Formats: sequence, C-alpha cells, structure tokens
Amino acid sequence: MRLLVTGGAGFIGSHYVRTLLSGGFQPSSVSAVTVLDKLTYSGNRANLDPVAADPRLTFVQGDICDTALVDELVAGHDAVVHFAAESHVDRSIASAAPFVVTNVLGTQTLLDAAARHRIGRFLHVSTDEVYGSIETGSWTEDWPLAPNSPYAASKAGSDLLALAFHRTHGLDVVVTRCSNNYGPYQFPEKVIPLFVSNLLDGGTVPLYGDGGNVRDWLHVHDHCVGIHLALEKGRAGQVYNIGGGTEMTNKELTGELLAALGAGWDRVVPVTDRKGHDRRYSLDITKISEELGYAPSIPFARGLADTVQWYRDNRAWWEPLRERARLESA
Ligand SMILES: NC(=O)c1ccc[n+]([C@@H]2O[C@H](COP(=O)([O-])OP(=O)(O)OC[C@H]3O[C@@H](n4cnc5c(N)ncnc54)[C@H](O)[C@@H]3O)[C@@H](O)[C@H]2O)c1
Repeated sequence: MRLLVTGGAGFIGSHYVRTLLSGGFQPSSVSAVTVLDKLTYSGNRANLDPVAADPRLTFVQGDICDTALVDELVAGHDAVVHFAAESHVDRSIASAAPFVVTNVLGTQTLLDAAARHRIGRFLHVSTDEVYGSIETGSWTEDWPLAPNSPYAASKAGSDLLALAFHRTHGLDVVVTRCSNNYGPYQFPEKVIPLFVSNLLDGGTVPLYGDGGNVRDWLHVHDHCVGIHLALEKGRAGQVYNIGGGTEMTNKELTGELLAALGAGWDRVVPVTDRKGHDRRYSLDITKISEELGYAPSIPFARGLADTVQWYRDNRAWWEPLRERARLESA
C-alpha cells in the first residue's frame, strides 16, 4: 500500500511515520510513504530525522488546500491518513479563520481528490472534542456532535464531510476520534510540554480556572496504534473512538508534573479560565476494542516519566520552537 500522510511532520503524524517505517506496526501492508506537510509553526521537518534516510519515505512541503498539488499526490497513492490540521484550541479562540481554511477546506480538497481517484481508504484523524463536554458517563461513536471551540467545530465539520463523502460518493472513509495525547515531539504550547519546559527553566506554569477540567490522557503511541488498526482493519463509513488513557483533572495533572520535576505549588500561577472551556471529556472505546482488538498499552506514570525525560534530553529540539511561539505572540 502506498500511503499519503498529511501533517506527517507534526506531533502525532511524525510519531505515526517514524513508527511505521521502523516496523512498529505489525502487520503492515504499507510499502511507501509520502508526507505532505505545509510546515506551519507546529510542523518540523526534524521530527522525521530518525527515518529521513529510509528510501520508502518522500517528503513534500505543501498545503492541503492546494488543489493541483493534492490531486497529483493523491493520484499516486492507495490510501490517505489525514493528520494535517490547525490543532491548538487557544489559537482558534484568538483567530478561527485558519482553522476553517485548513481543517474544513483542506479536508474537502483531499476528499475531492480521493473520490476522483477512487482511493482505497481515507482515514480521517479527528478528536473527542467534537462531542463537546460530558458531565458523567462516556461518549459512544453515535453521540451527537456538539463542539464548543472553533477548533472543535472545524474538526466536526471535517468529520461530517468525510462521512458524507462515504455516503454520497462511496469513498472508503474511516474516522477516528481520540482523546488528549502526550509524548515526545509535542509542540511546547500544549499543556504537558509547556509545563515541563517552563519548569525545566525554573519558571512558572499557568493553570486555567479552578483546575477542575477533566481530560483523558493517552500516550501518542497508543493513539497511533489505534489509527493503524483502523487503517488496516476498520470498516468503511465507521467512526472509532480511541482513548482509554487516564482521566484526571488539570490540577491533578499539574501535581504529577510538579512532582516529576521536583517543583512545588508556588510555581503555579492561576489564570482566567479559557473561554468556553469544556469541563470533561470521556470516551467509550468498546467499539474499537471489540472490533479491532485495540487496547492502550502505556501506563500514564511510565509514559509521563519517559516524556519528561525526553524533554530533559532534547532541549535543542524545543528551545527554538518555544522562542518562535513567544515571538509570534509578542
Ligand atoms: N494533539 C492531540 O491531543 C490530538 C488529539 C486528538 C486528535 N488530534 C488530531 O490529530 C491531528 C494531528 O494533531 P497534532 O497534535 O499532531 O498537531 P500538530 O499541530 O502538532 O501538527 C499538525 C501538522 O499539520 C501541518 N499542517 C497544518 N496546516 C497544514 C496545511 N494547510 N497543509 C499541510 N499541512 C498542514 C503542520 O505543519 C503540522 O506538521 C490533528 O488533526 C488533530 O486534530 C490531536
């Protein structure tokens, strides 16, 4: 299978490509991988350095909204795994336009090309944030979508488009919706790498509101295992939730990070809550577990310790990125 991976230079996409080319998904029918990535602020070619010499990998810098480029690339592939997106909720609150352009129009551009060239499978990577917020219990895949942030709304739009292309054009589409990811190579604006890098530098960390918002933390590797299972074995037209990490409040997460870095609560600065902040996310993963044999394998304590160690060891990776983000927001 010749695979086109969009957003393969970002946090999750690059983990997927590195693992795939290192033989980390078994069985795998993939024979060649093309990464299409615009290299926005969160895309980083260096994320693919460990597999850059692999003859099966081709890297193309480009935009998923570029109809001609997308058409040419899709034509030469059997399947698409679509990660490319604007992905940071806070940025979507400051400015929603890039989210609509990339997440909705970009996805539509890819779907059009995939339908035109009768691609064998289109795997659309989505998020649990499309469901909104849930007080008790957990979302199953048939739960109505009720996104609250512009990011989540743009992802919901792209999910629905993907499913509509299945129903309307018979395109072989599978959608995955995952909970919060953590792990190495995550851009240092997201909470775990932001807190770790700030604490490593002796600085403070900002905690939103009362810190009571609950998230389900899943190691990026477990997410990618779920995506690959859905690519290889998922049923066309189906949605699969991927989660089953550890549910905890932001305050509990902060406590874990402070302990891992040997820092005290005096390093935490409470800040005004994020607008429209979803209170709780929780996914029911019965469907992917029973149908595809998915189970998360990395316990949170081990995954977090490894992640903290990775940020300790890879200052040269995150320092310039954090500086770039600071300059941008200045
Ligand atoms: N991070 C999470 O916790 C999480 C959870 C569930 C789902 N997801 C989804 O997973 C996917 C990847 O998320 P991530 O955390 O790796 O994000 P990321 O921001 O680290 O990576 C996004 C990548 O997409 C690229 N990109 C952005 N706009 C593009 C465009 N117009 N054309 C081509 N490439 C473009 C960027 O350069 C970057 O490499 C997204 O679709 C996101 O919605 C993320």
